[in-house]
Amino acid sequence: MDLKVKLRVFRYDPEEGKKFYQTYEIDYEEGMTFLRALQKIKDTLDPTLTFRHFCRAGICGTCTVMINGFPRLACKEQVLPYLLAGEEIVIEPLSGFSPIKDLAVNHDDVVNRLRRFRTWIEEVKENPQIPPSISRKIERASDCILCSACQAYCPQVKEEGYAGPLLFAKIYRFLQDPREKNKDFRIEEAVSWGHLYHCLSCDKCNSVCPKEVKPASLIRELMTYQAKDGKA
Ligand code: SF4
Ligand code: SF4
Ligand code: FES
Repeated sequence: MDLKVKLRVFRYDPEEGKKFYQTYEIDYEEGMTFLRALQKIKDTLDPTLTFRHFCRAGICGTCTVMINGFPRLACKEQVLPYLLAGEEIVIEPLSGFSPIKDLAVNHDDVVNRLRRFRTWIEEVKENPQIPPSISRKIERASDCILCSACQAYCPQVKEEGYAGPLLFAKIYRFLQDPREKNKDFRIEEAVSWGHLYHCLSCDKCNSVCPKEVKPASLIRELMTYQAKDGKA
């Protein structure tokens, strides 16, 4: 049986300032992902449709879009389960991010937050050995691909000053790193600048993270670290 894929896609024309939805229908292909579906629409129906992608392998984090209200990596998310569910499929830009054109959004806010929270190690004079248990913690947080799915789904990100799960995962990563010398400052920035304790512990960020970083769990560990007065 030939399956048809019908997608209702958010469009934004910045020149005209017009926002609207457009429905496209294409043939289903075996193993079709949403990125493949969008590419097929662009190639065969509408070359003006704009969306971001790069690696096509769930590594670069650029293709995240809202699919029926959930942030998903378009290059990993399979179309078939949605077809079988028989519901209308709606594709929209990342929630809480301003669209530049169609599904492509402006990431300046996240980039500015990464700068503000200095998400890098300052100058390293010696190179200490990292025990495997710490290395595993660092690796888990380092698996973050900056896809912003957690930021888009976190209800607290709208609050002024709340850093958001992506940033807390980064702060956690540096707090664990023995080369980070200013751990108290890291905690201070998470609590005072980032409003760590405003996290609702709702686990929504955990549920949408495609890389098992589990930011909400890392946030709870950050809180524990602080409660122990700076002892990891
Ligand atoms: S657990 Fe905290 S950071 Fe994660 S989505 Fe909920 S409020 Fe946001
Ligand atoms: S923590 Fe997960 S959901 Fe959030 S940006 Fe990183 S990979 Fe994406
Ligand atoms: S295209 Fe790189 S994560 Fe989807």
